Amino acid sequence: MIYAVANQKGGVGKTTSTINIAACLAEAGTRVLLVDADPQANATSGVLAGERPGPDALTMADVLLDGASVTAARIPTVVPNLDLVPASADLAGAAVELVDREGREGLMKAALAGAAAEYPYVFVDCPPSLDLVTVNALVAADRLIVPVQCEYYALEGLSRLMETIGEVRARLNPALRVSGILMTMHDPRTRISGEVIAEVRRHFPGDVFQTVIPRNVRVTESPSFGEPVIRYDPHCAAADAYFEVAKEVAQRG
Ligand SMILES: Nc1ncnc2c1ncn2[C@@H]1O[C@H](COP(=O)(O)OP(=O)(O)O)[C@@H](O)[C@H]1O
Ligand SMILES: [Mg+2]
Repeated sequence: MIYAVANQKGGVGKTTSTINIAACLAEAGTRVLLVDADPQANATSGVLAGERPGPDALTMADVLLDGASVTAARIPTVVPNLDLVPASADLAGAAVELVDREGREGLMKAALAGAAAEYPYVFVDCPPSLDLVTVNALVAADRLIVPVQCEYYALEGLSRLMETIGEVRARLNPALRVSGILMTMHDPRTRISGEVIAEVRRHFPGDVFQTVIPRNVRVTESPSFGEPVIRYDPHCAAADAYFEVAKEVAQRG
């Protein structure tokens, strides 16, 4: 099963959610492939414990632009059972470079076809835009996870994202389904945070994960150690929540 983790807003918890849900499922004993499709490469640095892919390492840019195979590009991570196809800044021009390519929306799908047989779970961390790379992820994916930050403007942009999903479904990938909307960075001390959760649930009944991710300082610390928070501090509140969300993801199928 291939999951795209997308929201064109930056800073809503896409990368944090991708690496932690992927790591939870990998720790449970399943092989999981993490695909970093964002030139900022935060997912890449978030699972390599301070190491960097070598200068000759193949990245997602080589996969999308030059037809490198995912099998050649993947590398192990700090989490057992979790492999990574790294990203680099080279991916920044990809969305533009792909425009003239034949079958430009289906390149990631073709690249991941083999991997889906080897990995029960593939997670694609998308860039903060609805560009051609994100469209490639939506075409490759069976399921979509949409992280949404518990803040006042949360709903802004969500309708645009849902429109894009509708277009992708109509034209390119009828099988695409929403796995869930994941409310992130919840602060129970502020009233607005709870109100936003209620409002998103009202707008998208049934689509919002039961589990809400709390705002937690351990999450902000873990990237500097290059580890998902579920390994950095497995018993903190955010780690607990990510284990619960991973269960929901697995159950929703
Ligand atoms: N539950 C959380 N508690 C505290 N900080 C968080 C939490 N989730 C994400 N963050 C922080 O918010 C910032 C944006 O998160 P990130 O996952 O990189 O978002 P995106 O990939 O959507 O841009 C990062 O600095 C991250 O450490
Ligand atoms: Mg990110």
